[in-house]
Amino acid sequence: MVRQPVGVAVIGGGRAGRVHARNFRYNIPGAELVAIVDSDPAVAADAAKELELQRVCTDVDAVLEDPSVHGVVVTTPTFTHEELVVKAARAGKHILCEKPMALTLDAADRMIQAARETGVHLQMAFMRRFSPEFRTARQQLQMGIIGELMQIRSLTRGPGLPPAWAWDEELSNGMVAEVNSHDFDAVRWLTGCEFSRIYAEAVCLKAREVLSKHSSFYDNIVVTARLEGGVLVTIDGSCPVDYGYDARMEILGTRGVLFIGDVRSQTMGVCTRENGFTQRAFDSWRNRFQEGYLGEDRHFVDCIRGLSKPEVTGEDGRRALQAVLAVRESLRTGKPVDLRSLESGYQGETAGDVA
Ligand SMILES: NC(=O)c1ccc[n+]([C@@H]2O[C@H](COP(=O)([O-])OP(=O)(O)OC[C@H]3O[C@@H](n4cnc5c(N)ncnc54)[C@H](O)[C@@H]3O)[C@@H](O)[C@H]2O)c1
Repeated sequence: MVRQPVGVAVIGGGRAGRVHARNFRYNIPGAELVAIVDSDPAVAADAAKELELQRVCTDVDAVLEDPSVHGVVVTTPTFTHEELVVKAARAGKHILCEKPMALTLDAADRMIQAARETGVHLQMAFMRRFSPEFRTARQQLQMGIIGELMQIRSLTRGPGLPPAWAWDEELSNGMVAEVNSHDFDAVRWLTGCEFSRIYAEAVCLKAREVLSKHSSFYDNIVVTARLEGGVLVTIDGSCPVDYGYDARMEILGTRGVLFIGDVRSQTMGVCTRENGFTQRAFDSWRNRFQEGYLGEDRHFVDCIRGLSKPEVTGEDGRRALQAVLAVRESLRTGKPVDLRSLESGYQGETAGDVA
């Protein structure tokens, strides 16, 4: 068990890294932000300045050798996660890894294996699970308040395009991985059911300028899916939508319907003769899920202290990745994909397999 303070280093000083780093620096009593590391010296310097840290850090290995670092948060681009997570595990550091977990299921397996062998925690950063409204919704579903589940709709829309590396499917697994990984995880977590079959359609209708660099780029996607046990799911993603950050779910049961989320960021509104009634929308994932990020970071510290076990595991990261890979495969073939077909050793469907 780690005595206070729990030392945390954030690897990756970009968008997600800053959110976690601010939490560990200012908002979590008993945690200390030891360093924020970025391979880009300008970003490393800017991050250290913003977070009022003496040390400007570009060397991941130095941070992994530092005994005052008990845990690391991996917030680098997806294609680097495997290497950094395996390295951190071998250095004996607990790990909070941003979604999407990795590019391939084999990579995810190696990450899970490294954490298992070295006895460190591997927590995945699906912050919706720590958002109060999502937690309440899960309790209500478990109490059977809307009866047996029949259908789920889940959507995520981002105001702007993610960083350029994410436009390249080979580095990110595509926009579905960047934008909708959270939807796949939330559906699994809320229902307790796994995805069994997935079909997807995607198109680029807005950020057409990206197509000249990446011909497979899309900015709108609709996924239809089936869960084991028969619940039907639709997930949609769109980015950039400009109007705000929008994440909502609707869950239909035999005795009612449950709604999660709102495009409005507050209940306050203004009504004037000139403009009519106006309310503000969430402008970023940072404020839409502020409590979720703080909750998952606190949970990480509690796990390092030995007070808890990760609620979101490497296996959860792998499941969401499997759904993302099924989407990619469906987009490639134009056909529905049985998720089992993505596992090595799959023998094909047998009679009576599909619910
Ligand atoms: N949970 C969420 O809501 C959420 C939101 C945004 C991003 N993310 C995830 O966080 C990760 C990072 O995304 P981002 O938008 O912050 O990207 P970003 O490009 O803004 O930042 C990544 C940073 O990592 C640095 N970097 C790259 N390779 C490195 C290495 N080997 N060592 C050290 N630094 C390195 C880059 O210089 C860059 O500054 C992605 O996996 C993304 O999907 C999650």
